Amino acid sequence: MARLTFHGHATFSIETDDGTKLVIDPFFEDNPGFSGSLDDIEADFVLLTHGHFDHVVDTEPLVKRTGATIIASFEIASYFEAKHGFTCSPQHIGGGVHYPFGYVKMTPALHGGKVDLPDAGDYTTVPAGFLINFESGQRFYHAGDTALLTDMQLLKGQVDVAVLPIGDRFTMGPDDAVRAVDFIEPKVVIPCHYDTWPPIEQDAEAFKSAVGDRADVQVMKPGDSYDF
Ligand code: NI
Ligand code: MN
Repeated sequence: MARLTFHGHATFSIETDDGTKLVIDPFFEDNPGFSGSLDDIEADFVLLTHGHFDHVVDTEPLVKRTGATIIASFEIASYFEAKHGFTCSPQHIGGGVHYPFGYVKMTPALHGGKVDLPDAGDYTTVPAGFLINFESGQRFYHAGDTALLTDMQLLKGQVDVAVLPIGDRFTMGPDDAVRAVDFIEPKVVIPCHYDTWPPIEQDAEAFKSAVGDRADVQVMKPGDSYDF
């Protein structure tokens, strides 16, 4: 069993069977959905899908306090190593690494490449998603910020729980997310990257209805946890 906690927008924590704590895309202090304290967030590993502020902005304080290892694209990892001396495990699209908690592969995402951090200068990268095969057997996918990709068809049969953006405007919207469900065929779908701000407001219950019996859509509110 692993426990997934939604913090609003695209930010999630996962605590694994053995107590390892992962944080994906730490966006807390300025995240309208997050009502807790960043000081209470624990992390052994921090996974970053891409460099936009709403996915990386709280990495520095979180990693500074917890000493977590950053898992990110080579360029973002290089930034945090060079600027802060943080411990990083660089990866890149299509490549996987075995960690004590499981195997993490970076998956393609179609989105912007800016590294939106102080003094990031020339750092750019490509965005990604994460496919995590936990040691305890669960197969988890966080798509990151992305358009619908035909590449998602390659994930068919490999994903139990899929986190998909549905906000439209900056990522795929609900209609394309339904097509992503057709491509991936996960058991459970958790929508994210919507309702954070007015430009990405969506009706998650309508998305759930549109997916129908193709998958179990779990609409999580910030602060909610889901065991899988
Ligand atoms: Ni983004
Ligand atoms: Mn975003």
